[in-house]
Amino acid sequence: MKRIHKTVTVVVLLTGFFAFGQQKLEVDIANTITKIQPTMFGVFFEDINFAADGGLYAEMIKNRSFEFEAPLMGWIQPNSDKHSLNNESGIADIIKYGGTVTNHNFCRVTVKNDKGYVLINEGFRGMGIKKEAHYNLFLEAKKLQGNISKITIQFIDKAGNVLGETSIIPTSSDWKNYSAELIATKTEAKAQLKVTFQGAGQLDLDMISLFPQDTWKGRKKGLRKDLVQLLYDLKPGFLRFPGGCIVEGRTLAKRYQWKKTVGPIEEREILVNRWNTEFAHKLTPDYFQSFGLGFFEYFQLSEDLGATPLPILSCGIACQFNTGELVSLENLDPYVQDALDLIEFANGAVTTPWGKIRNDMGHPAPFNLKFIGVGNEQWGPQYIERYKVFSKAIKDKYPNITIVSGSGPFPEGDYFDYGMKELKKLNAEIIDEHYYKNPKWFRDNATRYDNYDRKGPKIFAGEYAAQSVAIASPDNKNNWDCAVSEAAFITGLERNAEVVHLTSYAPLMAHEEGWQWTPDMIWFNNLESYGTANYYVQKLFSNNKGTDLISITKEGKPLVGQENLYASAVKDIIKKEVILKLVNTSADIQNIEVSLKGEKLMSKGIAQVLTSEKLADENSFEFPQKISPIESEINLKKEKASTSLAPYSLTVLKFKMK
Ligand code: AHR
Repeated sequence: MKRIHKTVTVVVLLTGFFAFGQQKLEVDIANTITKIQPTMFGVFFEDINFAADGGLYAEMIKNRSFEFEAPLMGWIQPNSDKHSLNNESGIADIIKYGGTVTNHNFCRVTVKNDKGYVLINEGFRGMGIKKEAHYNLFLEAKKLQGNISKITIQFIDKAGNVLGETSIIPTSSDWKNYSAELIATKTEAKAQLKVTFQGAGQLDLDMISLFPQDTWKGRKKGLRKDLVQLLYDLKPGFLRFPGGCIVEGRTLAKRYQWKKTVGPIEEREILVNRWNTEFAHKLTPDYFQSFGLGFFEYFQLSEDLGATPLPILSCGIACQFNTGELVSLENLDPYVQDALDLIEFANGAVTTPWGKIRNDMGHPAPFNLKFIGVGNEQWGPQYIERYKVFSKAIKDKYPNITIVSGSGPFPEGDYFDYGMKELKKLNAEIIDEHYYKNPKWFRDNATRYDNYDRKGPKIFAGEYAAQSVAIASPDNKNNWDCAVSEAAFITGLERNAEVVHLTSYAPLMAHEEGWQWTPDMIWFNNLESYGTANYYVQKLFSNNKGTDLISITKEGKPLVGQENLYASAVKDIIKKEVILKLVNTSADIQNIEVSLKGEKLMSKGIAQVLTSEKLADENSFEFPQKISPIESEINLKKEKASTSLAPYSLTVLKFKMK
């Protein structure tokens, strides 16, 4: 696959062009309308589309501890026949530990002869290995009868060619941890791991794990570097986690429980991923949550990204699109306690029970948690009743924590109207709204927040993405039509920064072969990743969020789509910059002249233009930066700049204050 990095820097002097037919815009730099919240542009993370296991969490072995519902799923035994007592070389049996252990199973390997009994792990749609890269292999083993004298571990390709090899000599008749290093001799996107046993006898195995050494920040058993880098480059203001519907579970028993995701990874009980068989169009029966990327790793990632953590917890209602199971109000305590304990885990002194666990995991300093979300897409009186209980308990104990509540799955209609009305009555601090709509909806709704009550709850545009076909259709595309329409809409979010305090595109990531839901902001396979056009829209806004909202108008009115033109403006009082975002959603060039009043500015600024010839254009593994910003210079004469906005484009203009 060819990767093209666009490094072209086109220097165009735009001032003075197209004097005829210019639209005259005015920017008032001196008057701050409102402060832009540092959380204005953030990231929504959910383990959907292999985003955690098989994605961001760099573990390469699928079903490392034999805990899937089919405990040998992901493991192939090429020279063994489970249905024959005379199977040639050996067999793998799954044995239960018994008792209260959370890692329930291990694998007992019986090797009958020296014909080389083999187990192969297929990885997450294969394993991506890179020539000369180093990989750490870990396993737990216990020798039983006979003498299995050596375990050979190899990367192999489809044809069985060996692409790297190491070995482990099992020595102990007690459980013992072993590790080894593998070096790949070739780059291969669909390698597998072949484990060959020499000698005859029995051996117990568990937690067979493989990670690249080159992870984000070089952390052992850490996160995939290229994917974190894409997040880091967004400079996100917050990191929402763990979702999404995954918070709720299809049933209450299968909800996301953060306490089960901290402490030693081998003790984190795995859970079926709720997206596993949710969509008939994309069944993913091998999708489970190992929780190797659990709540500690989440807080640590937030810290790395400089993003405020924003955890969302179950409020005692399972997904209402599935079972909608409810915990009765009398039995809600453990759920509320989970929220209180999470705050302690994040912020508590190391002498508190949960603060101690954070400390034991290597982070004595608090994670500075400021927000907590109660429920995801819940609706109806059942939600409001439960929200009240959470809200009281959290505020009683932690008055400085801001609570995020939800308005349900849709941005209008009965559920939405009811939720908003009730939450307003309760003086909810921040309400989460979700919109998965067509591109036109986004263009038409740039004024959505213009009339929201400035004194009412603040808004978290917590999940949104333009859907090119229909909500969650497998045919949806991350095309330029969707991205430029989102850009138009985002100018409306920014213009209303007094009300809108947080925003995030959703979902965040998808594996090329392991996805269930599209569109998604970042796509990856086992070796590569790229940001979509939507990613670059997010990046342009987030990297240029500024500190203060200022006005940009035409004939005294904000630009909300008149003649297909949308605009918002901010200044950054720390960097001493004025930043304009202009979106042209027409098929024609639009010529503009901007007068910037209220500050003296340097005579040269920067223009960043994101556009593409066709609305159907997309980025891809082959052309990952087909749609990405191109930077040029722009001149300013007497505080006036003239430019022509390309058809279907987002333009960011940046000027330095003197
Ligand atoms: O982003 C995908 C899903 O869409 C989320 O899990 C859910 O909250 C919404 O319905």
